[in-house]
Amino acid sequence: MRYGVFDSGLGGMTVLGQLIKMMPYNDYIYFGDVARVPYGTRSDKTIIKYASEDAAFLYKKNVDAIIIACGTVSSVAHEHLKSIYDIPVYSVIDFAVQSAAKNTKNGKIGVIGTQATVNSRMFEKKLTGMKSDLEVYSVACPLFVPLIESGISPDDEISRSVAARYLAPLIEKKVDTIIMGCTHYPIYAETLKSVYPDADYINVGRETAIQLSRDTHRTEKGNVEIYVSEISQAFYEIAEIMGFSVSEGTIKTVELG
Ligand code: DGL
Repeated sequence: MRYGVFDSGLGGMTVLGQLIKMMPYNDYIYFGDVARVPYGTRSDKTIIKYASEDAAFLYKKNVDAIIIACGTVSSVAHEHLKSIYDIPVYSVIDFAVQSAAKNTKNGKIGVIGTQATVNSRMFEKKLTGMKSDLEVYSVACPLFVPLIESGISPDDEISRSVAARYLAPLIEKKVDTIIMGCTHYPIYAETLKSVYPDADYINVGRETAIQLSRDTHRTEKGNVEIYVSEISQAFYEIAEIMGFSVSEGTIKTVELG
């Protein structure tokens, strides 16, 4: 399989990492729209426009399927993208909500995501559509994406205090499961856990990789290509953490449109 994977920036690399870990035999083409990140503070119309351009770039690279490695685009533009392509287009929401619903003991689930994701109420709709008695509490965390894209470390005092502020309403509700509904957030997973260790944290990329890996067979190692609309220091850093050698020109810059 040749998968096209995209995000507004570097967050989708957390999904790519899980996909490579569980399905190293596939080929992956990643696109991060670093020039236009963040998406989560924009209107649905703009998010759909950007997402359509991102997906079109990958489709032209002859991928077999597209994985929307972005909670915001999955919430706002999944239906639109599915309707225009003749290949599968996967969101990161569907598998994550199944796992969260299965995981919760007290029926209280927290969702953290961007403003656009929270406004869409997509996680809530899918969770309560599966199990109507679930209590779902969503919190928008608009500062996380700019902090992560600026390379602010998960251990920084700023990251900790922002995490404490955002998790406070979920701690008050005593949720036992929190969906990290934005693919940037696993980078701050340890910070979140240190603020509120009593919840299990669902990584949407991991859940997607687990499900997609169920029906694949190849054994040889696949190829990975990474494109961005603009390169940033933080993107280099995340790529290096994931084992890509940036000095060999592994990351290519492209202009969309
Ligand atoms: N990684 C994106 C998400 O999952 C970040 C969205 C943004 O650019 O604000 O929602």
